[in-house]
Amino acid sequence: MNTENSGTEVAIIGLGKVGEAIATNLTKGNHTVILASRDIEKAQLLAAKLGGLAVAKDVAHAIREADVVIPAINFNSLKDFFQAYASELADKTVVNVSNPIAPDGNGGFKKIVGQGESAGQILSGLLPGSARLVKAFGTLGAASLRNEAFSKPGRKVLFYASDHASSNKQIEELITISGFEPLLVGGIDQSIRLEVFGDLHEFGGLGKTVTVDEARAKV
Ligand SMILES: NC(=O)c1ccc[n+]([C@@H]2O[C@H](COP(=O)([O-])OP(=O)(O)OC[C@H]3O[C@@H](n4cnc5c(N)ncnc54)[C@H](OP(=O)(O)O)[C@@H]3O)[C@@H](O)[C@H]2O)c1
Repeated sequence: MNTENSGTEVAIIGLGKVGEAIATNLTKGNHTVILASRDIEKAQLLAAKLGGLAVAKDVAHAIREADVVIPAINFNSLKDFFQAYASELADKTVVNVSNPIAPDGNGGFKKIVGQGESAGQILSGLLPGSARLVKAFGTLGAASLRNEAFSKPGRKVLFYASDHASSNKQIEELITISGFEPLLVGGIDQSIRLEVFGDLHEFGGLGKTVTVDEARAKV
């Protein structure tokens, strides 16, 4: 399958709130996506809803065919996911959307890793050696990802963090195609700033989504 725009094959694994939002935005931007879920029927249903730019595959085939893999699954499941698909993930750009949080029992959320730790940094150490982890796409809440793509006037920013210059062009193209403005914050050690409670997160220091001019002042 050839992508319409960037030439990058994208696989989204896990089709909950975030996976569906990313898939929807990419196809709205006229980009093809490979969809995978533990339940192939879920992927087939979403592919049918999104139309001809989306195709459903089983998880292993989706990863093998992709250049960029976006596991839109919970932080606590990602370690097992990386182990289960270690050989398929070799040499891929893997996008970490996860926030290391859980309900706090009072209607809010609490961090489930140390205060100074981030999902991005922890997970970059768990990936198979030749895969490249980039923190991106999950840096807004699902509702903003869904509702603020292609916003006018002034696109909203999706921050990202990466240690891999060779992946950055792919990520920036995909963020742009999905209706946002990409802004690199720094290496993966900056992930904490982009996760919930971080100074560059809408559910942290920012308190809202931002345009590029607003974002540059903060970065
Ligand atoms: N919700 C938000 O506002 C938000 C914002 C930014 C980032 N995030 C992050 O995005 C990720 C997904 O969150 P979400 O809100 O979309 O969750 P969600 O709606 O609960 O969806 C999670 C999906 O992950 C799938 N899944 C779980 N374990 C899996 C595995 N081992 N292999 C394949 N698929 C698996 C589930 O599939 P099944 O249907 O098969 O169970 C489900 O479709 C999380 O890491 C979260 O921290 C969430």
